[in-house]
Amino acid sequence: MRVIITKDYYELSREASVVISSLINKKPGCVLGLATGSTPLGLYRELVRLHKEEKLSFSSVKTFNLDEYYGLNPSHPQSYRHFMDTNLFRHIDIKPENTFVPEGNIKSEEAEEYCRGYEEEIKKNGGIDLQVLGIGGDGHIAFNEPGSSLGSRTRIVALDARTIADNARFFNKAEEVPRFALSMGVGTILEAREIILLAAGSNKAPILAQALEGPITSMVTASAIQFHPRVTVITDEEAACSLARYPYYKFIRDAEQKINTPLF
Ligand code: GLP
Repeated sequence: MRVIITKDYYELSREASVVISSLINKKPGCVLGLATGSTPLGLYRELVRLHKEEKLSFSSVKTFNLDEYYGLNPSHPQSYRHFMDTNLFRHIDIKPENTFVPEGNIKSEEAEEYCRGYEEEIKKNGGIDLQVLGIGGDGHIAFNEPGSSLGSRTRIVALDARTIADNARFFNKAEEVPRFALSMGVGTILEAREIILLAAGSNKAPILAQALEGPITSMVTASAIQFHPRVTVITDEEAACSLARYPYYKFIRDAEQKINTPLF
């Protein structure tokens, strides 16, 4: 696993944008897995800048989002579809029909079939080349709350009290936060060919250390990325400060620059 420690959030966002833009340059029709939350906002801003100022084109790119609140219409200002449209899709040349975000307003009796279809759509498009992840305060990736099977697939999940409290900041009050979501599973995420996990801010420090250096456990679903052969964690100094192997990650980064090869 590569762990890149950046001096601040801006640099983190830039590093992440370099991973994505290099992939698009190499494979213009690549499939990206995308995340929501505050953490990737800087990355999306940077991708918009690269599109506008450096002609990075998303015209053949396809995207699959990790998750969506269950019960929200796509037009709801807190839906993840709305988040992606306003923070990224509307500002780049991606084709709307190439952007997939789970639909939050399907009927519960159709959910199983719908989730199976979402996974099939990923496969039909050749699988995810690069998955962007954030990490929740309780260690979740997508909405895979503590206790989610590490083999889980796309499904309806119930949100943990901690997640509802964390995400209440986007709503008028905690009672408005949906209690359920549609989420790719841990098993789905691990099938991506490459993963980048972003973490920023001191409040993520303890959980990031558990996810990267603690045991692999369904109680911290982000720890499952330890199974994956091509993971790059990009973290700012604040989120990295509880990592026991901090000096080693810095050393590896210098070594990579010397031999000009990523060291996973
Ligand atoms: C939500 C999303 C996750 C995201 C997490 C962290 O719960 N479902 O995909 O990683 O929030 O959000 P933030 O980046 O705002 O800390």
